[in-house]
Amino acid sequence: MADIGKDITRAQQLLLDGHLVAIPTETVYGLAANALNEKAVLEIFKAKNRPHFDPLIVHVSGLAQAETLVESIPDIVKTLTQKFWPGPLTVLLPKKEIVPDLVTSGLNTVGLRCPDHTLTLELLKNLPFPLAAPSANPFGYVSPTTPQHVNEQLGDKVSYILDGGECRVGIESTILGFENTPTVYRLGGLTLEALEPITGPLHVQLNSSSNPHAPGQLQSHYAPRKKILVGTREQLLAHSYLKAGTIVFQNQLPGFSDVKQVILSPSGNLEEAAQHLFAALRQLDKTDVEIILAELVPETGLGRAINDRLRRAAH
Ligand code: TXA
Ligand code: MG
Repeated sequence: MADIGKDITRAQQLLLDGHLVAIPTETVYGLAANALNEKAVLEIFKAKNRPHFDPLIVHVSGLAQAETLVESIPDIVKTLTQKFWPGPLTVLLPKKEIVPDLVTSGLNTVGLRCPDHTLTLELLKNLPFPLAAPSANPFGYVSPTTPQHVNEQLGDKVSYILDGGECRVGIESTILGFENTPTVYRLGGLTLEALEPITGPLHVQLNSSSNPHAPGQLQSHYAPRKKILVGTREQLLAHSYLKAGTIVFQNQLPGFSDVKQVILSPSGNLEEAAQHLFAALRQLDKTDVEIILAELVPETGLGRAINDRLRRAAH
């Protein structure tokens, strides 16, 4: 098992020595290494059992560091990052040569984001390099939102987990590219409603196994081991299962025992629901239920990203 603590100096030293450290962000925990050190980055792929065709996001301390990694920064990206960084927005931009091809899986763009977490921001400001960090889970499984989640699955692959508590957003960053028209490749913690006043109407191009722009957006992803059925309340209630657990938005589903029901937000708040979603999937995955019934939430704001994750978990 890994050590869990708040020692930034220790995290810094491990990263300087080319090792992996799990880091907190506002979205989910990341498995970090020196983004400019190919050998260190290779350890990330190994620890996660991640295919090399799936590129990594590079975490920066701000726009100034971003400028050292990409050819140029369009005005629209300057405006967006001024407003939303630090925060759950990843931008795809043409990379400079110093970014190893391993990080981008051979693509000519690199995904950059500045995470909104005091510990990790301080770490980034102290380090002479940016951090490549995918979510700190085995490839294909649900992302971790607490240090304990990381320890349960990758505790033997990483020596230190920087403890930043429970993630505030709970769902991964929104990925935005600019090749032709601004395009969302992954729905995430920053909503279309927040972006569109600046970008204009956004093109949304999600998944799939063949999408060259977000190779990691596989249809089946973020998946627990248990079978999952996703639907509206009516659709879920039309099934009868003896050993089902449920994840619901606001109100319990009638006819299921209390113990196996997780309510994401009793007050019907999508931010709260997003924050608790992955922990709920993990919690039920550990029980003896045979199937997880998950209720779709309103398809607006963060609800889009929540429903996206539920559908991928079920695929
Ligand atoms: O919130 C987040 O983004 C978290 C935290 C740790 O920052 N990170 C995260 O990383 O979710 P990961 O590796 O689990 O997901 C990154 C996604 C993958 O689907 C990958 O395919 C896509 O970003 N991606 C990364 N670089 C890309 C690029 N240059 N072009 C297209 N897609 C890219
Ligand atoms: Mg991931």
